[in-house]
Amino acid sequence: MEFPTEWPGVFLVFEGIDGTGKSTQIRLLEQRLCAAGEAPLLSREPTEGPWGRRIRESATTGRMTPPEELQAFIHDRTGHLRELVLPALAAGRIVILDRYFYSTIAYQGTRPGGDPAVVRKTMETLFPPPDLVLWLDLEPSEALRRITAHRGEIPNEFEREEGLESARKVFRSLAGDRFRRIDALPNESTVAAAVWNEAQSVIQAKRPQWVARLNP
Ligand code: TYD
Repeated sequence: MEFPTEWPGVFLVFEGIDGTGKSTQIRLLEQRLCAAGEAPLLSREPTEGPWGRRIRESATTGRMTPPEELQAFIHDRTGHLRELVLPALAAGRIVILDRYFYSTIAYQGTRPGGDPAVVRKTMETLFPPPDLVLWLDLEPSEALRRITAHRGEIPNEFEREEGLESARKVFRSLAGDRFRRIDALPNESTVAAAVWNEAQSVIQAKRPQWVARLNP
């Protein structure tokens, strides 16, 4: 792997199928961290770079072939880590990503001809694991209902119910120590409290002065 696997910063990732409230929860976590005196860096994948733009366009103009799409995510992520994420972690910042390589396992791994176990192996060989993954979990039917009701959007090519169901199964299989399941069904503030609880314990483990700073 060309990347380091340790850093002075804290690397937090949000995962989950579309419509689970990731962007809302990221905003709420950002506010809490700023109130605690942090300056978190927020970013997302696919990125706004050339590879990320190409991937986004494909959601409306037609998907790439499975191997092309996998490669596009690898290129996008490599640039993202090299140019933005790892420099911020090396500088000691908290980095919050909206999606990371677990989405590649869950989405590309479940396309025709794909295998989540194989994609997982590729991802773990190429990219460093974050300090914590917050997996916002919700029934696909409810997630799709939220997409149409709240955003007024028509779900795109990445957001068909069968696809979301398979992606969710893969996320479930990844749950573990650094990959925490958060029930995304309750109201915003309940979910935010659960997110804060998980995030804090990881930050605390890396920064002994954190408790003192929060409770002066
Ligand atoms: P999304 O965050 O939903 O973009 P937007 O906010 O513009 O709708 O990401 C677009 C889609 O990309 C999303 O449905 C999941 C998919 N995706 C993958 O298939 N593999 C990946 O590795 C990542 C990061 C995302």
